Amino acid sequence: MSVAKPLRIGIAGLGTVGGGVLKLLASHGELLTQRTGRTLQVTAVSARDASRDRGVDLSSVRWYQDAAALAVDPEIDVFVELIGGSDGIAKRAVEAAIAAGKHVVTANKALLAHHGSALATAAESAGLTLAFEAAVAGGIPAIKGLREGLAGNNIREVHGILNGTCNYILTEMRTTGRDFADVLADAQRLGYAEADPSFDIDGVDAAHKLAVLTAVAFGTKVDFKSVHVEGIRHISALDINYAQELGYRIRLLGIARRTEAGIEQRVHPCMVPTNSPIGATDGVFNAVVADGDFVDKVVLVGRGAGAGPTASAVVADLVDIARGRSTPTFGVPAEQLAPLVSSPISRRQGRYYVRLMVVDRPGVIADIAATLRDQHVSMEAFLQRGRSPGEAVPVVWTTHETDEAAMQSALAAIGALDAVLEPPRMIRIEDF
Ligand code: NDP
Ligand code: HSE
Repeated sequence: MSVAKPLRIGIAGLGTVGGGVLKLLASHGELLTQRTGRTLQVTAVSARDASRDRGVDLSSVRWYQDAAALAVDPEIDVFVELIGGSDGIAKRAVEAAIAAGKHVVTANKALLAHHGSALATAAESAGLTLAFEAAVAGGIPAIKGLREGLAGNNIREVHGILNGTCNYILTEMRTTGRDFADVLADAQRLGYAEADPSFDIDGVDAAHKLAVLTAVAFGTKVDFKSVHVEGIRHISALDINYAQELGYRIRLLGIARRTEAGIEQRVHPCMVPTNSPIGATDGVFNAVVADGDFVDKVVLVGRGAGAGPTASAVVADLVDIARGRSTPTFGVPAEQLAPLVSSPISRRQGRYYVRLMVVDRPGVIADIAATLRDQHVSMEAFLQRGRSPGEAVPVVWTTHETDEAAMQSALAAIGALDAVLEPPRMIRIEDF
């Protein structure tokens, strides 16, 4: 009986994810050989610090200081990029690997969001695989789910919780009352956050992932620039409590939707019903909901960050490569990806939550209501608790379905009223 050749793997980046991949391959070697008919063998690695203990024995593995040199090592078949960053060494190394005829596996959504279409074209024209299951939603097989499992559908929409750090922060703030900064430090310690955590909390990481998901869902070029991005820095304990009282949870969501005007891509905090699948997804868990014309809605939930879940996704890609299974990077050949026609957020139609801090004095609410009337924004519910004449009190309302553009005009006018002490806080309501 002939024995298939081992799949020789070079891994650049041995941090949270790289360390997780090394451990998974070391612990499940036999299982993976059974499943692929080949040994998955790490032959070379690269990181900055050669002296650091990575938790597995690397004494028989070649060490490279330069990840781009590892990428062209003649003794590897697959280059696994787990360094991070949209440019710099990660990009140079991936390009070098493709030029040298190596398959590439990466968890780097920043790289894909900025250069995904070009890298896919380069890989496909060389007959190579560029695989990135780990780049979107951690351990959830969201890419394979959408690209393979739902290949028979026209996708109408894909949305979800795409950042584990933000969901962890929002959940901990709600359930424990802890401070934003304190919970963020926890997420960093647990290996959830990006090297620069502002990518998480400002929505950029979720936007990177959404841009990649959009390409897979709609067969368009990756278009990060047209994603509308807002983060969670301004979400306060007050808003989290009001959301709870109104029957909502606050989530940072990524939403990509096909509309008559084009494809909407937006990342921002949303209020969603508490008992919806998204509303029920707490902590570091992510949820991805795809809506296909034949299948209807499919919901995938799982851990969105951390060593184990992300390693699971990286190794799933390695298993595909070991089996010789190849799929166009974004579901249709890269050369056929269509330019994305973007529908801006100003065209959104939906409901809104607004909170103001106002001076408690007669006439303030009448002024607010007049501004909403002038912009044809209809109030659904209104809440003012407590009484502190002459002092600051919170005022909260939700709207019926309205235009984003009208809402923004109303907020600008309301924010300029004398009695309004802080910029209005607005959160979009999505009835998923
Ligand atoms: P870490 O910061 O934990 O690890 C980064 C690794 O890259 C380290 O081993 C570091 O070396 C190495 N490195 C940095 N610069 C270089 C360089 N110039 N040459 C070679 N190696 C270098 O990051 P993560 O593991 O968290 O993330 C890696 C990638 O995976 C990123 O793209 C991230 O966005 C993505 N990702 C992360 C997830 C997570 O939960 N953490 C989940 C999904 C994707 P050294 O150890 O010596 O410092
Ligand atoms: N920083 C990312 C997150 C890692 O928190 O979701 C997973 O991509």
